[in-house]
Formats: sequence, structure tokens, C-alpha cells
Amino acid sequence: MNILLVGSGGREHALAWKLAQSPTLDTLFAAPGNPGIAEHATIAELDVTDHRAIVDFVRRQRIGLVLIGPEAPLVDGLADNIRSIGVPVFGPGREAAKLEGSKGFTKDLCARVGIPTARYFRVTSKDGALACLDDFGERCVIKADGLAAGKGVVVATTRAEAEAAVADLYANGPVEAVIEEMLEGPEASLFVLCDGTSTASFGSAQDHKRVGDGDTGPNTGGMGAYSPAAVLTPALEERALGEIVRPTIDALAAAGTPYVGVLYAGLMLTTDGPKLIEYNVRFGDPECQVLMMRYTGDLAALLLAVAEGKLADTPSPVFSDDVALTVVMAADGYPGTPKTGGAIAAIDVAQADGAVVFQAGTTMKDGHLVSNGGRVLTVTATGADVAAAQRAAYAAVARIDFPTGFYRRDIGAKALIEG
Ligand code: AMP
Ligand code: GLY
Repeated sequence: MNILLVGSGGREHALAWKLAQSPTLDTLFAAPGNPGIAEHATIAELDVTDHRAIVDFVRRQRIGLVLIGPEAPLVDGLADNIRSIGVPVFGPGREAAKLEGSKGFTKDLCARVGIPTARYFRVTSKDGALACLDDFGERCVIKADGLAAGKGVVVATTRAEAEAAVADLYANGPVEAVIEEMLEGPEASLFVLCDGTSTASFGSAQDHKRVGDGDTGPNTGGMGAYSPAAVLTPALEERALGEIVRPTIDALAAAGTPYVGVLYAGLMLTTDGPKLIEYNVRFGDPECQVLMMRYTGDLAALLLAVAEGKLADTPSPVFSDDVALTVVMAADGYPGTPKTGGAIAAIDVAQADGAVVFQAGTTMKDGHLVSNGGRVLTVTATGADVAAAQRAAYAAVARIDFPTGFYRRDIGAKALIEG
């Protein structure tokens, strides 16, 4: 089977690395890819926003499965356009992708079918937003409705912070937003494969969203992760599946807009049980990197079974008992304007003891690898427990020569404290 992988980040490098190990793969194409992905795939020079060009390529290259990595093309309806020519796609169509594309859509769905989540109001004007604040006391969370690459959320702990966030949100005119109650507890991410009707758990992870050590500084796309997330015990996972994920999948199927792909549920493990913070309609980045290090099966066959609606006939995914941990090396300036063109060397040395360096914002310049984005490398390793995986990942990080980059030094630390 030929596969087309859409995307160019560390997540897609990890998917390409794992797909390349699949006995059912013939040729892997990637669009637009990056130098790391190019080690496992043939790069297709395609503009991902040009759906017609992608559909033509899929026909021409006899692609048997399209795997869409990032959210933007999913929200844009790329999966629908490829399915319209009868080719299986791993990734939801435009309507189901609203689970990530519109926070208001997801909150209304939760309210309709009784999914536990933060109490909320949808607002469209500054006055409407300010009026809601009274309902939440000092603490609330303000979220712009659409895709915001992790930057559209303000967690306000005082009324003044909340008012400032509302003023910011409405600085350029009316927008849709959600204002909600602040939830408390440890966070965990649960990944669930869905083929429209059936589901299969695909493991858990914990992300590190803030740029600085000790969860300080601005939010990012994620500075590191580990899997599994021990806080999400099997009993809590079963509750999250039964109370949150399955009712969502059933509601979308009943609406005639079935969910096909991986659903990423961001959960808060509150004293009242798991509550939904948000959905993403794709693998997390860098959470995908740690999941791929632990998944032991034939990824191409599994994703095809999802895309063809055959999950019920497929054995449950099996993961290694090891912990995987990844450290993001970002370019100076991230999450603001990152410094590009910084030299990167010694990736081979870093990989000598079994760590894998997945590339994200990299490019080749005059035959040398250089930085070309905010998150540049995700350095990933496994171990018998979090401490061992952490040691192995940081040993690999220390061997990489990337003077214009930086990284957090405490990925996994909270898991060690919480035991
Ligand atoms: P989101 O983009 O919705 O994932 O939000 C980014 C981060 O904001 C989450 O990972 C949480 O840490 C935090 N957050 C979002 N919603 C809430 C909430 N209702 N209560 C507490 N924290 C939240
Ligand atoms: N790492 C968070 C995300 O992929 O949304």
C-alpha cells in the first residue's frame, strides 16, 4: 500500500518513522515534509491548501491511505475532498473536525449529551463577555472560538486579569468566544482511535505547555511529554471513555458526521472525576512522538483499519511497558519570533544509544541542517520508568550541538514527585 502523509512537524516525523517499519507499506510520500521525514519518505512538493492538487496526486500515485497530521487541513475539509474519490483517509471530515475548530461547538455538544466539562457561556461581544464574569467570581478561563495554535486561552486568576483578557480579545472587533469555569486537578491527555462507530484506546500522555521550567512563562505548542500518564489510572481511563469520548462519537455518528481518526481528549482529573478541557482532532505534538516509541504493532495496517471502518475486527493496539519521554529543543525566541538558520549538528551521536531525534522546524541550507521554526527537534527516549526515560532523553539532548536553541530541564519531573 502507498501512503500519503500530510504535515511537516515532529509529529509527522514520528509517524513516518513508525510507518517505515510497517510490513504493509510500499511507498510513503510526505507533503510538505521536512529533512527528518525525508529519511523515511519521498517528499511530494505539494501545497497542502491546494486540495485539488492533493487529490490529483493521490489518484496519480495510487495512494491507498492518506494520513493527515495537523488540524488546519482537517478543519479545512481536506479529508472530505479525498474521501470523495473513494480513498480511505485517517482524519475526520470538516464537520467532525469542529470538535477542535470551534470550542463553542464542542461545549454545546457536551451540554446536549451530558458530557462532564467546565460550566460555560458562549459570547460574541465585549459587553456580553464582561457580563458573564460575575458568574465565575475571581477565577475563569477565556477562550477564543477558533484554531489558535495553543495561544487562544487565558486562565485568569483575578477579576482584573479576566477583564484585561476580554479587552484583548475584543480589541479588533467582535469575535466568538467561550468563558468557562476554572477546573482544578492534574491534566492528562487520552488518545482514542475512532472509525466512525467503534473506538480503541491508543494510550495516554502528559504534555508540558509552558515555555519555562516549573510551568512558567507563556503557553507553547508543547515543550515535552511522556507516556503513559500514570495519573490516568485504568479506572479513570474507563470513566473518561464511557462518560466523555463514547458519547461524543455516538453523537457525531447520529448526526451523520462520523468521526474517523484519532481523538485527543485533554482531561482535567478533578475530585468529581475526569472532565473534558478540550478536544483535538489529531495526534498531539509532541505527544505523538512518545506514543510512536511505545506502540509495538503495524501502524499502517492499524490506521487503514480505522480509515476503512474496520476497527471492531482489529486486535487492540499493544504498547510496550516502557515509559517514553521527549524533550523539545526550540529556537531562541520561541514562542515569540524564533531565530531561524541556526546550525544543528551531532544528531547521529545523540541517537547512538537508542534515543530518536524527531525533526520539526528544520531545513537544509547549503548541505547543512539548520533551524527553520519554533520547535526544532524532539529528542525522544525510553526507559523502564520515568526517571530512566528522562535520563536517556537528556543524555541525548546533551550530545546535540544546537547553540541557538534551548529546552526545558524538567520534563517528567512532576511525575517523579507525584510518584
Ligand atoms: P486548551 O487550548 O483548551 O487546551 O487550553 C490550554 C490550557 O489551558 C489547558 O491545557 C489547561 O492547562 C488550561 N485550561 C483550559 N481550560 C481550562 C479550564 N476550564 N480550567 C483550568 N484550566 C484550563
Ligand atoms: N501538545 C499539544 C497539542 O498538540 O495540542
